[in-house]
Amino acid sequence: MSCCGGKGGVSRGRSRRLKPKTAKDMKALMVKEYRAHILMCRPKYYGINYSINPWMDVANGADHKKAIEQWNSLEAKIKELDAKISHIPPREELPDMVFTANAGLIVKDTFVLSRFFYEERQGEEQWFEEWFSDNGYTILKFDHRFEGAGDALYIGNDLIVGHGFRSSLEAYTDFLEFAHPVKLVDPHFYHLDTCFCPLQDNDYLIWPGAFDEAGLQTIRGLGGEEITAIESEAKQFACNAVVIEKDVILPSGCPDLMQKLQEAGYTPHDVEMSEFIKSGGACKCLTLALTT
Ligand code: ARG
Repeated sequence: MSCCGGKGGVSRGRSRRLKPKTAKDMKALMVKEYRAHILMCRPKYYGINYSINPWMDVANGADHKKAIEQWNSLEAKIKELDAKISHIPPREELPDMVFTANAGLIVKDTFVLSRFFYEERQGEEQWFEEWFSDNGYTILKFDHRFEGAGDALYIGNDLIVGHGFRSSLEAYTDFLEFAHPVKLVDPHFYHLDTCFCPLQDNDYLIWPGAFDEAGLQTIRGLGGEEITAIESEAKQFACNAVVIEKDVILPSGCPDLMQKLQEAGYTPHDVEMSEFIKSGGACKCLTLALTT
């Protein structure tokens, strides 16, 4: 990810007025170069209110206090790594809106709005549309089911797009020139970002068990170095990582992948994600990169 231009969101929270007194204050007021710009949604109304994937069990609800702490530590870690965060206001009736990766996909100045598969999440579309159009993006809508950056991930100049559970293959017909469809075959890994994560220079994290042979060939054909998660860590959402250049934030409990990342020259950081894994998501799902 590179730095954000003038585009992108301005937090709609209360504006803070900074009064510069010292040279340090003045410096803080100067335009800052960020390493990435990320959209997040606070987990105020987050919960397991329904079940739309094999991880979600209404009887195994999320601990709300813990979820807020975990989300806060993810946000703090992203800030510590010098990325800018914008926030979209949460909606009480939409507990999964925290997973902003599913809002849509940024293609230059255009925002391709998601069309959610499940009715439970379809109400999110209008709020994401409003936020992106208020923030200067041209909105494009597909005719077919599409779950945004949960299922469409840039790797170099290519875009790998997942289908099989949430997004439909037909959604991608318009950008097949640079999109490579891959079929997801395990319902536990129902979004591409649950089992695949582009790193730098076409390298990537992957849980191969989530793909069919053709999909694996497509991904491997792009020539990057593959870092494979072991099954127990893949189920801990190891591949659901936020990547800021060489820094990689992944869920706690994945020491094998952390070591492999380190050996490949990356700096891994782990954040507790147990309460979001109960919903079938983790670090990456809670973020949407506004810069590509
Ligand atoms: N409960 C959410 C759903 O099933 C989790 C979404 C996870 N998001 C992601 N980008 N993988 O839709």
